[in-house]
Amino acid sequence: MSEFSTYVESQDATHLLLNPEAVNKGGEDKIFDWFTRCLAAKKDGRDVVNGTLGSLLDDDGHLAINRTVERQIRGQPSIELVGYAPLRGLPLFRDLAIELALGSNRQAIEEAGISAISIATPGGCGALSASVSNFVDVGDRILLRARHWGPYKTIIEERGCKIATWPFLPETPEAGLEHLERAGLATELTSLAQSQKRVLIWLNDPAHNPTGLSLQASERRAVLEEVWEHALAYPEVGITLLIDAAYTLYAAEPYGWATTLKEEIARRGDFPENLMLCFAISCSKSHTCYGLRTGALVCLHPNKQFTDKLVEVLLHTGRGTWSAAPRVAQRAISEVHIDAELHEEWQGERDSFKRLLDERRDAFRRAAAAHNLSLDPTHDGYFAFLECEANLQVCEIAATQHDVFLVPLEGGVRIGICAIAAEHMERVAAALADGLAQTR
Ligand SMILES: Cc1ncc(COP(=O)(O)O)c(C=O)c1O
Repeated sequence: MSEFSTYVESQDATHLLLNPEAVNKGGEDKIFDWFTRCLAAKKDGRDVVNGTLGSLLDDDGHLAINRTVERQIRGQPSIELVGYAPLRGLPLFRDLAIELALGSNRQAIEEAGISAISIATPGGCGALSASVSNFVDVGDRILLRARHWGPYKTIIEERGCKIATWPFLPETPEAGLEHLERAGLATELTSLAQSQKRVLIWLNDPAHNPTGLSLQASERRAVLEEVWEHALAYPEVGITLLIDAAYTLYAAEPYGWATTLKEEIARRGDFPENLMLCFAISCSKSHTCYGLRTGALVCLHPNKQFTDKLVEVLLHTGRGTWSAAPRVAQRAISEVHIDAELHEEWQGERDSFKRLLDERRDAFRRAAAAHNLSLDPTHDGYFAFLECEANLQVCEIAATQHDVFLVPLEGGVRIGICAIAAEHMERVAAALADGLAQTR
């Protein structure tokens, strides 16, 4: 403690130096807290199962790395390693980002008169953040499903906005809409369209974090129909649907949203001026370069003049927030995708990671069924989720009595399929079942 603290108590310093919004910020990241506890237990010699992480680990607990991407990064000349990227991102990477969003649907969508633009961002988070900065007004609510990735709230609040939600799963599912509460979406959309000039929806799909749920084609179509119908019903309101595609390249249908969009454009033959579809692209998982902060915001709209303007707007936001996104992975990943041989190698490694995730999910589903655990629907990606009220106690019991470390999140427990070997899934399910039994 310094002698100066006699003048200003730390409480005073907080209120003198931080603005009122900053004073309310804080709290350790829950996920890293539990990860740290797991590491401490391991250091004490416990035979731990670590299901806390959101990174893909191999069965020995090491970070899984796509070696094709790593080699391409390591082989870059110095200028690519340390140089600035253009503010919009490298042209090759910006084009690749559109491919990663649309896959083989790109040509049909562009031929239907839709203009696709992109700007490189520091990861998917940068894309999410840029969308709040520009597609709604300060104080507006962003529409999310009730179960969503925790940092969404932080990103939204940092931009002076708030959250509105609709239920994650329907209470009484309609046939073909087992994973979508369509009426709830419609109600919230109507309410926001009547109270805001602009509406922004973030939908983390496929392979939702924290459940692993992927909407099926009929459900994607229903979402798009609702959004489209609201755009037509409220022509004075700008409506943007942003697909957070962070895990899409580990899903059964990586380009499902682009396919649904292509079909909807063909069916309707028109695209309202006040509607925009966006993708937040993240290379963190798909190319295993989490810390290199590489991603993109891809935007689709029929008016090319507007999308040209959009590039300028987003460039400005990037400049004023993070400057340019890092260069090296933009270059390396673009090269991997352009070269047929490298692309095949990358895909082979990506496919083997997907198989690993699928095997682990199957093993966990089987173990959960054997222990009568009722999981949220889980199809793809890094996670599974068990709804329970006593989430914190269940995680405490799993950790202290079973050495199984999971993460209590609002409404339940997240199981990091990405970090747990298939052979340990029985232990995880048993620990959860015991936790539930003890807290009933
Ligand atoms: C749901 C979701 N969206 C977006 C991201 C963005 O990741 P990044 O900014 O590393 O690309 C993540 C990362 O964990 C995520 O889980």
